Amino acid sequence: EFKNQASIVVFGASGDLAKKKTYPALFGLFCHGELPATVKIIGFARSKMTEEEYKKRISEHFKISENDTQGQEFKTKFLELCSYISAPYDSDEGYVELEKQIDDFDAHHSHDKTQRLFYLALPPSAFITVAKQLKKNVHPREKGHAKLIVEKPFGHDLKSARELQASLAPLWSEDELYRIDHYLGKEMVKNLLVMRFGNEILGAAWNKNHIRSIQITFKEPFGTEGRGGYFDDIGMIRDVIQNHLLQVLTLLTMERPVSNDPEAVRDEKVKVLKAFDTDISLDDDVLLGQYTRSADGTKPAYLDDETVKAGSKCVTYAAIGMQIHNERWEGVPIVLRAGKALDEGKVEIRIQFKQVAKGLFTDVNRNELVMRIQPNEAVYMKLNNKTPGLSLATTTSELDLTYANRYSKDFWIPEAYESLIRDCLLGNHANFVRDDELEISWKLFTPLLEKIEAADGPTPFLYPYGSRGPLEGPEFMKKHGYVKSESN
Ligand code: BG6
Repeated sequence: EFKNQASIVVFGASGDLAKKKTYPALFGLFCHGELPATVKIIGFARSKMTEEEYKKRISEHFKISENDTQGQEFKTKFLELCSYISAPYDSDEGYVELEKQIDDFDAHHSHDKTQRLFYLALPPSAFITVAKQLKKNVHPREKGHAKLIVEKPFGHDLKSARELQASLAPLWSEDELYRIDHYLGKEMVKNLLVMRFGNEILGAAWNKNHIRSIQITFKEPFGTEGRGGYFDDIGMIRDVIQNHLLQVLTLLTMERPVSNDPEAVRDEKVKVLKAFDTDISLDDDVLLGQYTRSADGTKPAYLDDETVKAGSKCVTYAAIGMQIHNERWEGVPIVLRAGKALDEGKVEIRIQFKQVAKGLFTDVNRNELVMRIQPNEAVYMKLNNKTPGLSLATTTSELDLTYANRYSKDFWIPEAYESLIRDCLLGNHANFVRDDELEISWKLFTPLLEKIEAADGPTPFLYPYGSRGPLEGPEFMKKHGYVKSESN
């Protein structure tokens, strides 16, 4: 079976993404016995490095302590599988060498069919060059299977995303392409399907008749530290909202797929995306922010970064009110919000249900279902309960499924990248972004981005590094259907 073997090639092997995410994920899979039984891992990049330097670099972020002897053994064994090719991306020589190494590996292990996974941990400017070269020199054609993992950004707006796709499509079929959105590999995001469609009690209430509002919130406690120059052309909406948060929202609002076939899942995602309102009003539906120096002066303002354009209006915080026009969701306010340099790091989904009819009680809160994606995965539901004892008053308490309390610590919750690379090796596309999904996600946000980035575009509200975001935040959330409930 070809799935028992693979040659995995990491492009951009000397870069940050490869070091921080790709290699640690491959190593994690190896330690859990989740890489194919026979596997070769080849790094490819322009930097000149000795094999020793390369191995030192790619293992910097492996999660093992000095005295973890088993971990150290795994590391030694894993690194024996790794080799490195240093060559330019735009000429044949490195690719010819790559083809030779993979052929030798296949011949040595007498594979009938070769499996080649190419991971492009590269800036978008190099995507097409490498994709072309690979197709020309290393694609196995009828000798086996090829897979190409590409990383965001997939374009900068609708036009550039279409251009990128138009260059890739003649070379690599949709079936061979795996567009990573790493949020789709997170445990709680993968859990959404089960929560919604595996629980009658939630499924039955999952619509405009019972749900009052939906919020998906992404908070990071650090700024663009060192990445300001890169971030300045991108901003928070492209960085996190158009992809990660929208993907989560899609899974949260799509109809039930007819089966667990990856295409059935992606078909439903596309359908709901088509029902999203693209007419997002700058005045009513959007709150933008940019961080300034922290209150105590120790943390820099966004504009203090020398790589950022002077006077940049780039947004490091955005809250966007959205609407879905279909029978299930018409009229339910939805907010996607994301901010850097805030008071904490947290990503969560919050579903607020309608208030029960007045009369019998005057003081009950809305029910609320919270799914915390990170840190510390949890699902909890706020319910109204009688205050214990003689009192007839009510109190809001929680049904709490905090993973750390409920599941044994020995449970392996894979990192998002581990989960997705494994899916790719198994040929499962469900948690990768299809071309039509990508197109609609850009259709949805491009008009808004154009308004924001126009010469006379809005000036973001300022908020200090380490705060909860712009002071206008709570008012905005209230306007979009969110009511803070008191837990007592
Ligand atoms: C990336 C963004 O896609 O996601 C980063 O480019 C952001 O700016 C990161 O920090 C967040 O990912 P995670 O997994 O740390 O929540």
